[in-house]
This record gives sequence, structure tokens and C-alpha cells, in this order.
Amino acid sequence: MRFLLTGGAGFIGSHTCVALLNAGHEVVVLDNYINSSPEALRRVEKITGKHVTVYEGDCCNEADLDRVLDNEPVDAAVHFAGLKAVGESVRIPLDYYRNNLDSTIALCKRLAAHGIKRIVFSSSATVYGDQQPPMREDMPLGVCSCPYAWTKWMNEQILRDAVVADPEWSVVLLRYFNPVGAHESGLIGEDPSGIPNNLMPFICQTAAGMREKLFLFGNDYPTPDGTCIRDYIHVMDLAEGHVKALEYAIEHTGVETFNLGTGEGYSVYQVVNTFETVNNLQLNKETVARRPGDLPVSYADAAKAQRVLGWHARRSLEDMCRDAWHWQKLNPRGYRQEEDL
Ligand code: WQD
Repeated sequence: MRFLLTGGAGFIGSHTCVALLNAGHEVVVLDNYINSSPEALRRVEKITGKHVTVYEGDCCNEADLDRVLDNEPVDAAVHFAGLKAVGESVRIPLDYYRNNLDSTIALCKRLAAHGIKRIVFSSSATVYGDQQPPMREDMPLGVCSCPYAWTKWMNEQILRDAVVADPEWSVVLLRYFNPVGAHESGLIGEDPSGIPNNLMPFICQTAAGMREKLFLFGNDYPTPDGTCIRDYIHVMDLAEGHVKALEYAIEHTGVETFNLGTGEGYSVYQVVNTFETVNNLQLNKETVARRPGDLPVSYADAAKAQRVLGWHARRSLEDMCRDAWHWQKLNPRGYRQEEDL
């Protein structure tokens, strides 16, 4: 099969390219590189020994989409492209709504015009809001805590309505928990621009000496060690979940939602301790006040993806910490070359 990946040069997209190519599929990527690098796709080709067809363009722009779809027959699309920083979405909400909603609408319209009515969408566990875990796909959705999360929630609704209007559509909504780690080769990984917001890239940059200190946000939560609990999932497990989701989308119509998580929660202290132990290093760290808006506990009920897709996460927290550090050590500046700095 041949799949279009919007945002395919990003963190999750590039790892999904590897998983799809390894499973014998072909990939076509459309990316505007506003938060990613073409180098990631060259490295995907190096890892797999296979070709990636690449278009630079904007998924909100129907002409850019037509340029790809007129030339590239594909069986389905995975829509990764989008703005994804929680804090930034609070500061520039209109940009988030415009970009994240326009891109989905434009993509669906142009796909349908080319007779391709199959899409896998990158949603997020943040759509559950402040509910009692484990998060189940059939829970009523909560109140979202930021514009980023609302864009995921609204995109889910847009895609559900598209299926109601045209039952030929096949839509798979994937709710990611906390993707971390990197491909075991260390050739591709997470490359945040600026100061990382998320825990694992901040740990890696502190270990690499790029940040002086890791700040741990709050140890007075109602959890066993007082720090927040999350469902961290290795990005290669997540990528393999997309292979299964696409194969499902090819064989079914209608809409299905799946959590992609491990079903296990780990605390901030557990992640930090595991990182130090498996990588045999000490982080300069300090526990400080809570970060506003953090949920105490979030983890998936991962049973549906196992039951319906036959997929479950196989890699451990140790694997996530080892692979994240391996990538960081080999690529201290991410995909940027020294001369770009
Ligand atoms: C995890 C834990 C922090 C940084 C966010 C988004 C979500 C998804 C994943 C999308 C929390 C603590 C963090 C640090 C820390 N993203 N922490 N020091 O908040 O679960 O989810 O990222 O693209 O939509 O909301 O992940 O990695 O930011 O935080 O102590 O420097 O680590 O307080 O408890 P989160 P996270």
C-alpha cells in the first residue's frame, strides 16, 4: 500500500515512515518544515534503505495538496501535520484554530476529490480533560484545558461528521498519550525548537549539558511519590500502532477511536530515576512548584487497540530512556548542523 503522511518529517511522522517502510508499504510525505527538518527523511531512507517521496508544502493549501494527490496515487492518509505546543496555543489561539482545523478540512476535501476516503488522524489524550483514569475511548469527552486540546477535540468532531454525511469514509482517530524515545539507531528522534516543554527532551538536554538544571514540577500531588503520573509510550511502538491503524482503515468504513498508550503510568520521579540508572549518569535537578494546568494522573485503557487492532506497546520505560539518550548523544543539536547555529 501507499500512504500520504502530512507532517511526515516530524517526530512521530518520521518514526511512522520507518515503521511503514519496514512493513513493506510506500510513503509520500507532505511537510512545510516549520517545526521539522528534511534531514529527518534522509535519515529514514538511511535506516530503511528505502525511498521516501517528499513534497514541501502546506496542508492548509488546497493547491499544495492537489500537487501531491494529482501525482501520487495513495490508498489513505495519516494527518500528523499541526501545531502542537500547549503553552503557545494559549498565547496564539487563533493561529492554532486556523492551522489545525483548516488543514484537516482542506485535506479531507482534496482526498475525497481524488476518491481517497481513508484517513488516520493524530489526536491526543488531552481530549479526555480532567477525568478519572484509566482513559477509555467511550468516555464522554471532558472540557479541554487549552486551545491545542480543543483543536484535537474539534478535529475529531469534524471527521465524525464527515463520516455521518458520507459513510464511504473510513476514519481512525488515534489518541496519543506521551510519546518519548527514539528509533534505536539513534539516527532520528525528537528535535524540539527552543526550550523544550516536555519532560523527556528536557531531561536529555540537561544530561547533555545544554540546560543547567532540570526542574521537576511539584511533588505534592495525590500520587505515591507526589509527582504526576503519565503514560509514556515509546515512539516506535506508537509508529507501529499507525501501521495497524492504516491496515484497519483499508478494510473498514466508518469511524473508530483508539488510545495509543501502554496502559501503565509512571511518575516524574520514576522517569528521572530510570533515565539515570539505565544511562549511568546523574542529572542536575530540583523539585519546584507545580506547573499550572498539569493533571495529577493520566494513563490509557489500552485494551481496545489490543482487541481490535492486535497492537500493544512492547517497549519498556528503560527502552524509552536508553533510546532517547542515545539519539541525544549522537545528535546534540538535533538535525541542525553546527554551521546553522
Ligand atoms: C509530563 C510531566 C510535568 C517538564 C503534554 C501535552 C500533551 C502531549 C504531551 C502533545 C508533568 C513534568 C515536564 C519539565 C517536569 N502533547 N515536567 N519538568 O503535560 O503530560 O502532556 O505533552 O503534543 O498534549 O499536554 O507532558 O512531558 O510536558 O509533562 O517536571 O521540565 O513532567 O509537570 O507532570 P504532559 P510533559
